[in-house]
Amino acid sequence: MDQGYADSIENLKSMAEVWIHYVDYESRQNQLVPFISRILKEHKCKRVLDAAAGIGFEAACLYHEGYEVVANELNPFLRERMKGFLKNKKAEVKVTGFNWLEFDKRFEKESFDAVLCLGNSLTYLLNKEAQEKAVRNFYTLLKKEGVLVIDERNYELLKKNPDVSLINRKSCYYNSSVRVKINFLREDSLITSIGDKPSYKERYYAFKKGELLKLLKNTGFSEVEQYSDLKKGFDPNAVFYQYVCVK
Ligand SMILES: C[S@@+](CC[C@H](N)C(=O)[O-])C[C@H]1O[C@@H](n2cnc3c(N)ncnc32)[C@H](O)[C@@H]1O
Repeated sequence: MDQGYADSIENLKSMAEVWIHYVDYESRQNQLVPFISRILKEHKCKRVLDAAAGIGFEAACLYHEGYEVVANELNPFLRERMKGFLKNKKAEVKVTGFNWLEFDKRFEKESFDAVLCLGNSLTYLLNKEAQEKAVRNFYTLLKKEGVLVIDERNYELLKKNPDVSLINRKSCYYNSSVRVKINFLREDSLITSIGDKPSYKERYYAFKKGELLKLLKNTGFSEVEQYSDLKKGFDPNAVFYQYVCVK
């Protein structure tokens, strides 16, 4: 993985353990999943790839809404937990463990109606080349008129208000009782420490205002629509930005 700290086995294990508590299942069920469902319905999607599936919550929900879902998770410990989670939810979802940077070799071109990359995942790629390659690969996997749904944290807001737990309280993604500490190394680079016991550390790339939007537009999508905390348009105080990108 192109993600510094999480490369150690111990860190990956801890990440998997912390993650099950960090996801805010209820808010995702009530807010994030209906948002994704509406977009998939609008674009008449059938086959969906969750490129960074985590514990597999969205994948399970979408399976039960009738989508054919492939859930990809690179961290092998989180992937194992996801398999258990999906089984428990009786969700027949195919599970893969590929690196986004190899998606063009691992999946057939134009084989998905939708690709999801949610929960501030692209931030794991620390350089521009890798970020561009990953998004290009998502584009390649999409059928014509297929849709990429991708999001990012509003790092400008985090720089002004570095209390992540407080900020998480206003988003639908994470459980704000899980302790998160951040340390900006440079304007575009930070280390986060998530959880108490266990906790894990990761190094992230902090996208600047408009940077991811520009990258998405440059990839060649015919349409890129920005949302702020799931509402259409740009709000400088949003916790997360989502982008719906049509091929
Ligand atoms: C912040 S988590 C988000 C998980 C899930 N979408 C959620 O919101 O709960 C980001 C995930 O991206 C995965 N990831 C990071 N770099 C990756 C890469 N180069 N290829 C594939 N997956 C990657 C990590 O394993 C991690 O589980």
